[in-house]
Amino acid sequence: MIPRWKLPHLAKGMLTYVPLVNAWRSRRGSTGGSNAARYCYAVWLRHLVRLSQHGFQVNGSAVGELGPGDSIGTGLAALLSGAERYVGLDVVPYSANADLASIVTELSQMYLSRQPIPGHDEFPAVRPRLTSYDFPSDLLRLEGLSERGAQVMSELRRGFNSGEYVTYRAPWTSVDDVASGSLDLIFSQSALQAVDDLEQTYRAMFAWLKPGGFSSHAIPCHGQHLSPFWNGHWAYSDAEWQIVRGRRKWLINREPLSTHLRTAERVGFDILQVERQYADDGLDPQTLARRFRTLDAEDLVTRGAMVILRKPRTN
Ligand SMILES: C[S@@+](CC[C@H](N)C(=O)[O-])C[C@H]1O[C@@H](n2cnc3c(N)ncnc32)[C@H](O)[C@@H]1O
Repeated sequence: MIPRWKLPHLAKGMLTYVPLVNAWRSRRGSTGGSNAARYCYAVWLRHLVRLSQHGFQVNGSAVGELGPGDSIGTGLAALLSGAERYVGLDVVPYSANADLASIVTELSQMYLSRQPIPGHDEFPAVRPRLTSYDFPSDLLRLEGLSERGAQVMSELRRGFNSGEYVTYRAPWTSVDDVASGSLDLIFSQSALQAVDDLEQTYRAMFAWLKPGGFSSHAIPCHGQHLSPFWNGHWAYSDAEWQIVRGRRKWLINREPLSTHLRTAERVGFDILQVERQYADDGLDPQTLARRFRTLDAEDLVTRGAMVILRKPRTN
């Protein structure tokens, strides 16, 4: 007997096989969040604060982002804070429709007025949480920010990939989309749970980094909107999941945190920090689909994590 809560998700998946419905859904598709400057500022500064504890400096850096979503605003926040170059890689070009001029203007105002990092009262779902949301003046290079904002905007008005600041590959299809050994940082916010081929993606991120480069990821491992239970995504059988996924270009991959950590290590990363978020509720593990019942005890209670990796200086 299929539990009632799965039915709307199975129905929505089936609807993606109706060509007109699927075309309408694809046109209206959005990822929720990154088209708002405050969200992008909150996300970028959280990564930056965490990374600075491991020695990363944004000034003059080349930064990549996996899965920027609705806009490349988080990357623009990185550029305005001192990065020299940004590469955004997605499977759907959501950012093509974003109002990047407004985002740059709003981000610039936030930096120049030294606004605190928006905290968990404003963005309860955004991870990681910080102990202090004070404006991190000592981590940023704000001289020339207005000029940099104007230069970035003038480049973006000519189109993506038309200058030196912003590269946007959507869809990215190969490790060759970014020059090997060219980035100081590759980060993601709520994207690695959506990647189909994790091994290929971790290998690509490793290849793109310079020796000593950093990789910083907020990875949700919960069921998101696909279940009323945080671990409900693990209750679908593989056949049910195929229906839920339908013809969507991406959906959560259902991998537990240990798969990410094992894959990152296998491709060569050093793991610098893992900050898990634990759950103490959800479905009884015995009611999950067979292959998820046997997850290790820690995976079974991990609803997400912030992970910081580093490419060794010599390999
Ligand atoms: C939940 S959204 C998060 C978007 C944004 N980072 C944010 O914080 O709102 C997941 C994003 O990952 C992207 N994505 C899925 N698979 C991907 C892949 N293999 N490579 C890069 N991006 C991918 C999706 O297209 C989407 O933009």
